[in-house]
Amino acid sequence: MTKKLNQIYEGKAKKVYATDDPNLYIVSYKDDATAFNGEKKGQIVGKGVVNNTMTNIIFQKLEVAGVPTHFVEQIDDRDSVVKAVKILPLEVIIRNVAAGSFSKRYGVEEGTPLAISTLEYSYKRDDLGDPLINSDHALALELATEEQLAKVSEYAHKVNEVLKAYFLDKGLKLIDFKIEFGVDKDGNVILADEISPDTCRLWDVITNEKMDKDRFRRDLGNVEETYQEVFNRIKKGE
Ligand code: TMP
Ligand code: ASP
Repeated sequence: MTKKLNQIYEGKAKKVYATDDPNLYIVSYKDDATAFNGEKKGQIVGKGVVNNTMTNIIFQKLEVAGVPTHFVEQIDDRDSVVKAVKILPLEVIIRNVAAGSFSKRYGVEEGTPLAISTLEYSYKRDDLGDPLINSDHALALELATEEQLAKVSEYAHKVNEVLKAYFLDKGLKLIDFKIEFGVDKDGNVILADEISPDTCRLWDVITNEKMDKDRFRRDLGNVEETYQEVFNRIKKGE
């Protein structure tokens, strides 16, 4: 059994621990929630359990579909063993429907379907507010190589195709999502971080109700209940 050693990183929603194997980390999911670059802080009780388990279910589906991920095994409700990677400092966003910062930046009403699945990059820099960048910016700043960006884009679109169908089956529309990639010890680009209601916009197919972290960001109420409802739908048919 992989043993948790010293904490090597604490993010807004997870802690990362070294293990007795240098090629493996343990991630531990917290209930802490932040929004607007840490300006708004709170707790979503039970979120860590939902996001850990949901991410692992989804990552295993993605592996089967041909997207390599960092997932190794779930240890308990909140903790999972993952491959040690160096995270590329990019937030990779795919949008199917206008919402959030896209709607604001380009003056498009939330809920407007987009003509193509739109990939965006943000530079992962909290001190700069994670600015929107394009692929030339990523190359100019040496955040990733051209080969790595090609893989990131290919995998991100693949994740979108798999997840659109997967969530639709659960009665949820995948509006947009953010993913992160890492580079493993052999130099391969693999999916890392998480896929959860923290990192996806999910709208109920019938009511269009928001079933994701926007309930926390926008003070819409029923935050915990919504995370549990998404979790119940994910677990059904597992
Ligand atoms: P945005 O519309 O605020 O740019 O968000 C796009 C998607 O990315 C949405 O599904 C929420 C997710 N997201 C994160 O996971 N982390 C973040 O820090 C931000 C800003 C967005
Ligand atoms: N902006 C992130 C979110 O809303 C969290 C944060 O930056 O504090 O998901």
